[in-house]
Amino acid sequence: MITQEELKGITEAIHNRYGIDFRSYETVSLQRRITRLMHRHRLESVYHLWQKVLYDKDFVQIFINEVTIGFTELFRNISLWQTLKNDIMEQFPNTKPLKIWHAGCATGEEVYSMLILLQELRRIETTEILATDINTEFMAQVRQGKYDSSLWKKFNKSYQSFVQSSQKDLSQYAELGEEWFVFHKNLRKNLQVRFHNLTQFPQKEHFQLIFCRNVLIYFDEALKQQVLKLLCESLRPGGYLILGFYDALPTNTELPLKLTNPGLKIFSKV
Ligand SMILES: C[S@@+](CC[C@H](N)C(=O)[O-])C[C@H]1O[C@@H](n2cnc3c(N)ncnc32)[C@H](O)[C@@H]1O
Repeated sequence: MITQEELKGITEAIHNRYGIDFRSYETVSLQRRITRLMHRHRLESVYHLWQKVLYDKDFVQIFINEVTIGFTELFRNISLWQTLKNDIMEQFPNTKPLKIWHAGCATGEEVYSMLILLQELRRIETTEILATDINTEFMAQVRQGKYDSSLWKKFNKSYQSFVQSSQKDLSQYAELGEEWFVFHKNLRKNLQVRFHNLTQFPQKEHFQLIFCRNVLIYFDEALKQQVLKLLCESLRPGGYLILGFYDALPTNTELPLKLTNPGLKIFSKV
């Protein structure tokens, strides 16, 4: 197993060279994932890993794909989705186009929850949705909208709790096959999926709604503040930033954010 000292060296090197920061990631899980990566690529020592990371750009992406943690669920935290539907979305006039950004989208379950919500509100045609991540395998899955069919039951249950009806089911939005189910193409007509490192740049566009749930938990306080500042730059005044259930509230009061719903970690830009 890679030692803590070696891990520190590798994560520092990646940060300095590529601007991607794994320095505050949870050590044991990172050590385990990197060790697995070394076995897979037959890298016999940390020295070999070091060389690959520094001189092989393609390998860096493989490294990122291996170490990022993408745990996510459809309609994760139902009360958030109900608040979005019954309260937040109503504040944006139906007549104007809407822009939504899912920052750190992982495999896209959160994105498809939003797309379904937009479809149910009949606002999908006038909304642009951007989903970003640094893991290219996750991004490919979001583009395809393809999930293991073993998840169908669980996802369906979450959807039914969201709509508070056992009469409806996900088959109106996805095709269930033996191995996979695939969300309908028309659902992702206005969806763009892009590589974006949250710690480096804001987006050029401005959004009414930004989701950044369960991403900041991997960053230390300084990095979290930096990312929040960049997210604020991409948020329109009056727009909302939604953090995850386990994300600690930002302590920097200089950010132009007002906590509008502490339980659901919803902030508005002032
Ligand atoms: C636990 S998942 C959260 C998924 C989703 N937002 C949710 O809460 O259901 C965290 C995601 O953040 C992404 N991530 C980690 N560091 C990132 C960075 N610097 N820039 C963009 N995304 C990042 C990971 O690749 C992973 O997909």
